[in-house]
Amino acid sequence: MNIFGDVTLRTASVFLLASVALFNISAVNAVPTPSLESSQVESQKATLGQQLFFDVNLSQNRTQSCASCHAPDKGFSDHRGSGTALAASLGDDGKSLGDRNAPSASYAAFSPHFQKTSEGVFKGGQFWDGRADSLAEQAGGPPLNPGEMGLANKASTAARIQENSQYQVAFKGIYGDAIFEDADKAYAAMSDAIAAFEESEFFSPFDAKYDRYLRGEYQLTPQEDLGRTLFFSQQFTNCNLCHQLRTLPEQQKETFSNYEFHNIGVPVNTALRAINGTTQLDQGLLNHPDVDDVAQRGKFKTPTLRNVAVTGPYMHNGVFTDLRTVILFYNKYNSRSVKRQINPETGEQWREPEIAQTLSRKELETGPALDDKRIDALVAFLKTLTDKRYE
Ligand code: HEC
Ligand code: HEC
Repeated sequence: MNIFGDVTLRTASVFLLASVALFNISAVNAVPTPSLESSQVESQKATLGQQLFFDVNLSQNRTQSCASCHAPDKGFSDHRGSGTALAASLGDDGKSLGDRNAPSASYAAFSPHFQKTSEGVFKGGQFWDGRADSLAEQAGGPPLNPGEMGLANKASTAARIQENSQYQVAFKGIYGDAIFEDADKAYAAMSDAIAAFEESEFFSPFDAKYDRYLRGEYQLTPQEDLGRTLFFSQQFTNCNLCHQLRTLPEQQKETFSNYEFHNIGVPVNTALRAINGTTQLDQGLLNHPDVDDVAQRGKFKTPTLRNVAVTGPYMHNGVFTDLRTVILFYNKYNSRSVKRQINPETGEQWREPEIAQTLSRKELETGPALDDKRIDALVAFLKTLTDKRYE
């Protein structure tokens, strides 16, 4: 039994049961017109993936599922520690505490494969450092991670899956009768099914006020509209330089990240480190096994801003609790006012960046200082990115 009890899990599954009927499971990233057969397979995989995503039997002590740290009723993020210093996720053993905040798994399907572009810019992948190339690769991580779900190996995971006769039928139906003869293949099938669920519309409904505004179904308030103008204007802020994917046609399905990596100067979360005992600096992108260029130290993948109002705390280490603090944090780079050099959550000066050498100074020190009206407008705009079910 972990210290939070199983309340979150239960609410999550009740929530899911209530919402499956509402959210049609269809792949967001699928090829334009999938054949009937392949879309049927995709939807069978997504249905299986849904069960796996909520299944605590995929953790050693049977206390934790993917949904424990990515709760669908909490914007697919981890709220178990909210209001405490537990900005990172507690593992199935009830004591392991990592050093990173669980990002929302909503809209994660839109991050491209990890790559270095022809201009030499890194982008994409899953995790704050992009080290998993795809959702399926990512989904293979937590079950065997000792600090997370903690199963011993792929064979023990396959054995857990086979305890459930429904899974036996579904796995064989989708992946072939021989699927359990090879633990590696069974494990890959599990990851594949979970990824199919994460690619379903359930994770990426595009029904926030902002989407309804684009479709002419919602009128932004003057404050939200001011926030929108500021967000997309590089004369006032530089937000959209990093937080805009520019999807076509007509910018529908905007995920508010270009999935590139930056160091925006986030300080160490000292309260979290006082609990988890970590002393090493988080190297960010340099932790990616294929990256050895020290210029990438301390850079993190630009997160989506979809559902950001309901997925705090913020940043890779959860160092900020309120969304308004995040805007004030950006504003400190452009304001000379003494008052603006204070973090309202600590009452003290903003602390130094965890890693100062690679700060994206050019991108951050650009605009004029923002007054309270503009800060509040940006917060109001970010709240229009909340999916309808959380409004
Ligand atoms: C103990 C809590 C915990 C569990 C259980 C867990 N995750 Fe996570 N998840 C995290 C944390 C923390 C991160 C960020 C880690 C990092 O970047 O190094 C993360 C990252 C992710 C991401 C990357 C999102 C992005 O934008 O980069 C996805 C997707 C995801 N998890 C899905 C899953 C799935 C699927 C499962 C179940 C197989 C799962 N998680 C189980 C805590 C958890
Ligand atoms: C240079 C690129 C860049 C610019 C410009 C930028 N951001 Fe970010 N943003 C990031 C990165 C990278 C992170 C994650 C940093 C980390 O965790 O270390 C982030 C994090 C955030 C978060 C926290 C999200 C979460 O889930 O934790 C919010 C909110 C946010 N940015 C909003 C904005 C707004 C509003 C602006 C404009 C005022 C802006 N950003 C400008 C790159 C950028």
